[in-house]
Amino acid sequence: MYPKPAKETTSVKVILEWAKEKLLGAQIESPILDARLLLGFALGIPRERFYGSEDETLTKSQAYNYTKLIERRCKREPVSRIIGTRGFWNLTLRINLSSLDPRPDSEILIESILKTFPDKAANLKFIDFGTGTGCLLLSALNEFPNSSGVGVDISKKCIQLAQENAALNGLSQRAVFIESDWGGEVTGKFDIIIANPPYIQSNTIPTLDPEVKNFDPHIALNGGQDGLSCYRKLAPQFVEVLKKGGLVFLEIGYNQRKSVSDIMEYSGLKCLHINQDLGNRDRCLVLAHRHQY
Ligand SMILES: C[S@@+](CC[C@H](N)C(=O)[O-])C[C@H]1O[C@@H](n2cnc3c(N)ncnc32)[C@H](O)[C@@H]1O
Repeated sequence: MYPKPAKETTSVKVILEWAKEKLLGAQIESPILDARLLLGFALGIPRERFYGSEDETLTKSQAYNYTKLIERRCKREPVSRIIGTRGFWNLTLRINLSSLDPRPDSEILIESILKTFPDKAANLKFIDFGTGTGCLLLSALNEFPNSSGVGVDISKKCIQLAQENAALNGLSQRAVFIESDWGGEVTGKFDIIIANPPYIQSNTIPTLDPEVKNFDPHIALNGGQDGLSCYRKLAPQFVEVLKKGGLVFLEIGYNQRKSVSDIMEYSGLKCLHINQDLGNRDRCLVLAHRHQY
């Protein structure tokens, strides 16, 4: 099924053509990009697609390793999971099977924070509910060098991963990660709340792309029967830990603007803005204590 080079070497041109055909056959949307990213990884240049000459050659063992990576991608494992890292905002983060693979659309939360708090020298206290890899908290702390924050997650493995990512990006001194069922173990009040909770309706999960339903942990996706169960739990907790004058930056599903705003407003928050993601879909609610606006 996979090429078995008769000689000691295989040309890049031949193996890339083979990989593209395999990936196309597995209905991969971006076969050329994925083939090149995985070739870069196989040749020891993680997160760089292969830009070298197509006349270059791979050794027999490099070619073998590459065919194994393509085999994994053909089973719809995302490139980021095969490589084990994901670029998010301006950080590189490790990911693993216990964490959601951070999505570029979630970067709108960081963009929204920066728009609202232009003073990067500010000393802010952040909390990130459902931190996963730590991507949101760590990106925010990287932008605000005088700030600190807490990330919580119910998954112990995510907490360990987020700590690893903090160390990897030189942010351990300002980031604390706590294993907690939402705010259960949290004390204190915060200037900025960030949250990207699970918001997919349970019965929709089996219909998602294989890259998502077979590789992202369901605890990171499952928002209960109507997709809103985490928002209902979080709304009163936001009110409790949000400082006077503080703001919440909350990710929502593209069609949840009204239902999530209603839940938040019922608990005493007010929706100030709704920001859109890269595909122009509603993705980020900006909320404050109701009595302040
Ligand atoms: C959609 S993922 C977001 C991860 C990360 N913040 C991101 O944006 O990529 C939701 C996260 O919430 C966590 N989670 C689910 N239920 C939780 C709970 N009851 N308490 C704390 N965290 C929870 C999951 O483990 C997962 O890491």
